[in-house]
Amino acid sequence: MFRTCVLICLLNGVALSTKKEEKLSIVSHGYAISQAHMLPLLSLREEATRNLRNYATVLTKRLTQVKLAIKQLEALVKSKPSSNTLLTFKQTRIFYIDWRKWLSFVKEKHGYEEISKLQSLRHIMPTKIDYDEALYGIYRLQSTYRLDPAEMSVGLLRGRKYRCKKFHAVDCLMIGSVYYLNEDFQDAERWFQLALEKYHSDPNSKQFDIFGWSDDFILKLLMKAAQSSGRFKAALEYAEQALVIDRSHSFWQQQVPRLKNLSLTPEHPKREKISKYLFKPACRMEFPAKKYLRCHLLFSSPFLQLAPIKVEELNLDPPINIYHNLIHNEEIFWIKTLSNPHLKRSTIFSSSKQPIEDFSNIRTSKTMHLNDDAHKLIKNLNQRVMDATGLSVMESEDLQISNYGIGGHFSEHQDSVPPTDGKFRISGNRIITALYYLSDVELGGETVFPFLDLRVPAQKGSLVVWYNLFLNGTSDWRVVHISCPILMGDKWIATKWLREYPQMFIRPCPLKMEPLPEYSGNTF
Ligand SMILES: *[C@@H]1O[C@H](CO)[C@@H](O)[C@H](O)[C@H]1NC(C)=O
Ligand SMILES: *[C@@H]1O[C@H](CO)[C@@H](O)[C@H](O)[C@H]1NC(C)=O
Repeated sequence: MFRTCVLICLLNGVALSTKKEEKLSIVSHGYAISQAHMLPLLSLREEATRNLRNYATVLTKRLTQVKLAIKQLEALVKSKPSSNTLLTFKQTRIFYIDWRKWLSFVKEKHGYEEISKLQSLRHIMPTKIDYDEALYGIYRLQSTYRLDPAEMSVGLLRGRKYRCKKFHAVDCLMIGSVYYLNEDFQDAERWFQLALEKYHSDPNSKQFDIFGWSDDFILKLLMKAAQSSGRFKAALEYAEQALVIDRSHSFWQQQVPRLKNLSLTPEHPKREKISKYLFKPACRMEFPAKKYLRCHLLFSSPFLQLAPIKVEELNLDPPINIYHNLIHNEEIFWIKTLSNPHLKRSTIFSSSKQPIEDFSNIRTSKTMHLNDDAHKLIKNLNQRVMDATGLSVMESEDLQISNYGIGGHFSEHQDSVPPTDGKFRISGNRIITALYYLSDVELGGETVFPFLDLRVPAQKGSLVVWYNLFLNGTSDWRVVHISCPILMGDKWIATKWLREYPQMFIRPCPLKMEPLPEYSGNTF
């Protein structure tokens, strides 16, 4: 009861499941899933500040009028009752003329214009889904990298200090609630404790009491979290703390004896919930030094004899190579410029091949595709993939551009698909993934291959290439990979998937003259 009621009120609709009528395309701007599309938020900040300032001016004028009226009346109250005609006249004037004018002034709709302007900004304001995605981004970062809530709340990430606005008590409250709803009560309690500390140390905290975010409320959540994780004595302590604040509070008067009774029973602290994301720890693991590392220059084609490519072999079997300085800053600039206006939320598909419409914990990014005719540089990029791999880009998929936002990531997945997938019948499976890094990432955002103990940090300008298939054509499970959540920075990548059959002299199935099916997004 408490959980559903209080938390729903608290989160003011943090969506854990999306209702049918709230299709993503309508209710989300995707602010949190792509750094590239944050611009409207910046202009919103300025516009909203200006409006609110105007509104304050209107209200101040009004308040001045009210204070004047009070002064006038107080002067009347002070004057001695007498049959002085002058005073009678003055009083009559005040209550007949001034008072009526004053009443009509008070009844006027002050500041409505400013409020409606503020309302009109709502179409660019973040929606519930935008907020959920930002919140889950933080949740993902903290749970993946096991960041200390207190450090995180002041911008200290993995030992490095970042300039940012410190979290407020309410921020900690919200993050704690995500843990609570995910039944990770111990982490929830840590965040709620932090919320309480920040509430007590922040002189402006009381302003949030009008929303119901008071210390009393935080203690309620703390008590529930402690009780839910089986720590009854701690729960009792929170209730007793609340009674100190407000002795006559009937809710707490009932809780204390109940918890006293409960804390007589032996405690069975519940174990922490195990994440359903199998490879999450892989992102925070420091892998041992690479088992195999070799660099050489690639001269294989006539062109490369003039401009050999620097290659680093990251893994031998299956082969994973990184080719350095393969895309130049100017080209990167153009790709971002061309793709930015068309970036759309990345689609992923469930095992039943249905696109997952809900805001996704599996992949958070925006993507778009640039076909070979979009710009002449695309053909150059294709040529470099061919030079690097020695394979054909015929019938390959259009270059996919992706941009990630707060905590942006892609859970463990394989790029190849099961043989039954009809879309891959004509050109075969994705034999090669060739991924250009269009940016560095300050912290996080590595590509990690957990079965190979391999971590590849984003390196602007480089191309990483791996094989997705065994020699017999079946999917190679060893190249399962993750894009780790981004702690700091902006991640841009461009991916090319080469197909299997164009690489063969004899195609395994007869070519049908069907148009190539449209392919959108990756397959999970
Ligand atoms: C305390 O718990 C016992 C059972 O464990 C129950 O019978 C009793 O009514 C409880 N007392 C209060 C005040 O809740
Ligand atoms: C394909 O090759 C892999 C690795 O050599 C092997 O594990 C798998 O069973 C083979 N699959 C088939 C269908 O032959």
